[in-house]
Parts: sequence; structure tokens; C-alpha cells
Amino acid sequence: MKTILITGGAGFIGSHVIRRFVNKYPDYKIVNLDVLTYAGNLENLKDIDYMPNYEFVRGDINDAPFINSLFAKYQFDGVLHLAAESHVDRSISDPMSFIMTNIVGTVNLLNGARENWKNNPDGKRFYHISTDEVYGSLGETGFFLETTSYDPQSPYSASKASSDHLVRAYHNTYKLPVVISNCSNNYGPNQFPEKLIPLAIHNISNNKPIPIYGKGENIRDWLYVEDHASAIDLVFHEGKNGETYNIGGHNEWTNIALIRQLCKTMDIKLGRDTGTAEKLITYVKDRAGHDLRYAIDSTKIQRELGWKPSLQFEEGIEKTVDWYLANSNWLENVVSGAYEKYYEKQYLSR
Ligand code: NAD
Ligand code: DAU
Repeated sequence: MKTILITGGAGFIGSHVIRRFVNKYPDYKIVNLDVLTYAGNLENLKDIDYMPNYEFVRGDINDAPFINSLFAKYQFDGVLHLAAESHVDRSISDPMSFIMTNIVGTVNLLNGARENWKNNPDGKRFYHISTDEVYGSLGETGFFLETTSYDPQSPYSASKASSDHLVRAYHNTYKLPVVISNCSNNYGPNQFPEKLIPLAIHNISNNKPIPIYGKGENIRDWLYVEDHASAIDLVFHEGKNGETYNIGGHNEWTNIALIRQLCKTMDIKLGRDTGTAEKLITYVKDRAGHDLRYAIDSTKIQRELGWKPSLQFEEGIEKTVDWYLANSNWLENVVSGAYEKYYEKQYLSR
């Protein structure tokens, strides 16, 4: 039995990774470490939280003594590190929490792994999950490769870039067995409705304006979250130590084209007249330092590890809309803040 630490498992991507690992690897004990910030929601995992190979630990990666004691207690064989402050707009209004969690928190985990694995590094793996935003912004052409120079533009991306550098430094200096992946924009079930797609779904459902920053011409490369989880599974098991893998769907959309597509899908699903949702589109003040375009070249992971995305965007967006409409309670609980009571109800009253 291997014991695997997954950080940030109550968040959007982390919850999909946890579900995949708990179901697929019964011989792994999966420990989900999450402090439950506003973005952490244990309701995301209520279908698997009874499984014998799953354990939730509430704790903060910024607390070094706690992290050291966790490594000593569980003797982890592997780490998948997803915990982070992840929203660019919040990093613009409050950079310090991003510096703490994304940089200091990552170093605390690296130190825990280094100390625990120093006498027996064989078969161990520290997997750092990162973002394409570390590469900065593209013009109208070109793609991000693993060899593209880092050029982060927001406090969020600068904090993730710093953590990537530190992970590589621990590999070079201390021979810590690490692997890194940098992924494009994810979408799908359980995404916190401060991010573009779930925010738009919520607002369309409630006939509220859909805020589009600037002219809506910024481009993102969208990947369905379960396709990211399948890539993470492959990189964790088959990736080479010290290597980086870019993950993306070759699926570029301007924000306005994406929202128009979403509006069409929502009108059909809600049985409203064509064009109803589009009337809600409202152009608002642009994000400060708004990156123009992200686009990933994922040739390396496709060629070396045999990964490819399973869903076309039109199919993925329909699946996503279906999920949010079928789980309107989840969305309402998040928007009202009621989800924060789930932990007390589920864990403290036991
Ligand atoms: P999220 O914001 O939905 O979830 C983050 C989770 O981390 C939450 O459960 C939160 O409670 C937890 N967390 C935050 N600070 C913590 C701390 N100090 N200690 C313990 N837990 C803490 O994020 P997400 O969108 O699921 O992203 C997960 C990871 O993937 C992040 O590292 C992010 O940079 C990366 N990523 C995200 C995307 C995307 O499109 N969402 C794309 C590429 C990479
Ligand atoms: O590229 C990967 C990154 O994708 C991840 O590292 C981040 O964690 C994740 O949040 C995401 O960052 P973005 O800033 O691209 O995602 P967001 O959903 O915030 O915005 C997507 C685009 O839509 C971006 O160009 C800003 C724009 N936008 C966003 C919101 C919330 C709007 O026009 N209106 C909005 O209300």
C-alpha cells in the first residue's frame, strides 16, 4: 500500500484528481490535505469521502512544523501538490496570500519531502501542478513550449513561476525526485463561480449581467477538467524525474466567442428563446495587466506519454452546463456561503 499526499483536494481540479485516484488505485491510501479556504469545498467529494482508502486532513501548507509532522506521521511515498491561491483577480487585490501559499507553502512541502526521503528517495515523487500563465502572454501567433522562457505578468502567475523555480532548484540541488506540469485553463463541474464559465452560467440562470472584461478579445486555451486529471495521472506515474510537461487542449477561444457559445447552449437547456442569454453580455473595465493570449503546445506529453484530451469543446461545455443545471444546489450553496458549513456538519459532529 502506497500513501499519497494530494494537497488542495477540496478545490476544483484537486477534487477531480482525488476522485480519480481513490477509485482507480484501491492500493493507494490517498490523504487529502486542504485548509479549506473560500475555494475549498468538501461537498465536491461527498460521493467518495466514505471510501476506506481516503482520508481528509484539514491543515495549512504555510505551517512548516505541521507539514513536517504530517510527513513524519504518514511517511508519504508521493505528493501531488495542487493547493494554491488560484484566482488572478484576487492576486491583484491581495498579492500577499499568493506569495505565502504559492511560494512559502510549496517550499514547506519540498522541505517535508526532502527531509523524509533523504535516505530513501527511490520510487518517491514530488509532483508540482502548475499553470501556463508562468510563460506570460502570447501575441496572435505561437505556442507555449516547455522550453519557453518564463515571463509571468500577474502576482498569481509570478507566485506560481517562483514555486516552479523552487521545485526545479530542489531537484538540481538536493536531487529531490520532482516532476512539473503546466496546464491551460480548465473548465467543468465544481469550479468556483468566480471564474469565467461558472460565473457566466450562474448569472445567465439568474438573468444577471455577464461581465466581459475589456473588449472580450483575450484568448484562452480551454481543457475539460477530467482530461487534466487524466494527464496528471499519467505524469505522476510515467513522467520522468526533473521533466516538465505542458498540458492543453489546442482549443483556443476569445472570451466573447466562448460566452456566445455558452449563451446558445444555455438558451437551449433552459428552454428560452434564442438570443435571450446574449442580451445579458455586459462589457466592463478590463483586468489590470490582462494577458492577451495563452496557447499550449502539448506535443511532448502526447508523444512521450500518449496523452490526449478526450472531449471536443462543444461536448465539454454541454456536459458542464448539464452538471451545473442538475446541481443548482451546489452552485447556490457556494454563492450563499452555505457550503462552508459542510465541514462542521460532516466532520466536527461525528
Ligand atoms: P482552487 O482555487 O479551486 O482550489 C485550491 C484549493 O487549495 C482549495 O481547496 C483551497 O482550500 C486549497 N488551499 C489554498 N490554500 C491552502 C493552504 N494554505 N493550505 C492548504 N490548502 C490550501 O484551484 P484549482 O483551480 O483547482 O487549481 C488547482 C491547482 O492547479 C493550482 O495550483 C493552480 O495553480 C493549478 N492550475 C489551475 C488551472 C485552472 O484553470 N483552474 C489551470 C492550470 C493550473
Ligand atoms: O491558464 C490557466 C489559468 O486559468 C489558471 O492558472 C488559473 O488558476 C485560472 O483561474 C485561469 O486563469 P484566468 O485568469 O485565465 O481565468 P478566469 O476564469 O479568471 O478568466 C478567464 C478569462 O475571462 C480571462 O481572460 C479574464 C476573463 N474574464 C474573467 C471573469 C471572471 C471576464 O471577461 N469576465 C469575468 O467575469
